[in-house]
Amino acid sequence: MTDETDTQKSHGRLSIRASLKPRDLMEEKPRLKGAWEARIVTLFPEAFPGTLGLSLMGKALEMGLWRLETHDLRQFGEGRHRNVDDTPAGGGAGMVLRADVVDRALHAAMQDAPDDRARWPVVYLSPRGRPFDQATARRFAACDGLTLLCGRFEGVDQRVLDHWGIEEVSLGDFVMTGGEIAAQAMIDAAVRLRPGVLGNQASTEEESFSDGLLEHPQYTRPALWEGREIPAVLQSGNHGEIARWRRAEAERITAERRPDLIEKLRKGQG
Ligand SMILES: C[S@@+](CC[C@H](N)C(=O)[O-])C[C@H]1O[C@@H](n2cnc3c(N)ncnc32)[C@H](O)[C@@H]1O
Repeated sequence: MTDETDTQKSHGRLSIRASLKPRDLMEEKPRLKGAWEARIVTLFPEAFPGTLGLSLMGKALEMGLWRLETHDLRQFGEGRHRNVDDTPAGGGAGMVLRADVVDRALHAAMQDAPDDRARWPVVYLSPRGRPFDQATARRFAACDGLTLLCGRFEGVDQRVLDHWGIEEVSLGDFVMTGGEIAAQAMIDAAVRLRPGVLGNQASTEEESFSDGLLEHPQYTRPALWEGREIPAVLQSGNHGEIARWRRAEAERITAERRPDLIEKLRKGQG
């Protein structure tokens, strides 16, 4: 990819072919009005759609329920070698993505997007960011779309983050080599909350975090496996009893594994 027209790849459209492979979703496509969009600035556009092209997410992408666009940071690089990074000011190990290069890529990625960050957040995936959670997934899903900046090396020059009013969001308290996996995780969590993406809407209403608790255990056939039985209550047909058992199990598991969530519920923040 050498010219400017190759810097943007779109994924997803309205017409559906049964044999579509994830990479087939990467043809140039028009921006569809009303479809939720994710625009990614990355040094590795080939990482997309990745898992986002599979199963229900991939189907929804094909159907035009959402749209995915990558912007290749390298194409906005400096000079003949399209340099995107430089050594950290003040010294230290590694390299930092340049503010001017990231700025050019963001201008391309934000074309026609609303300036209102409440409608269209601009997110830098960063271990330093606020932890991603289900409330953030809901907020992202309720927007028109979002732009995600995937870092590499030691990260991004602070000035471009400040200049664009970028929100830093972390996938968790660990450090990966790049933001691409975090971007895919966050997009997946948001898009599955969009209308029509999951067949059964109830499945997002009863799962972990929907009511501030972790989910109860799930079972399916066979009724007896390796000497282990499905709890009798789940086979009783008594829906009231089943609901009570599930709630009690959800509370037990949450208290055991995530006392912080129970505390949040107590304070009315869950
Ligand atoms: C090696 S990391 C940079 C880490 C940075 N020097 C620090 O200490 O905070 C390179 C890139 O991976 C991405 N990344 C790594 N861990 C992440 C996490 N937990 N959540 C989101 N993005 C992450 C970010 O985009 C980051 O710029």
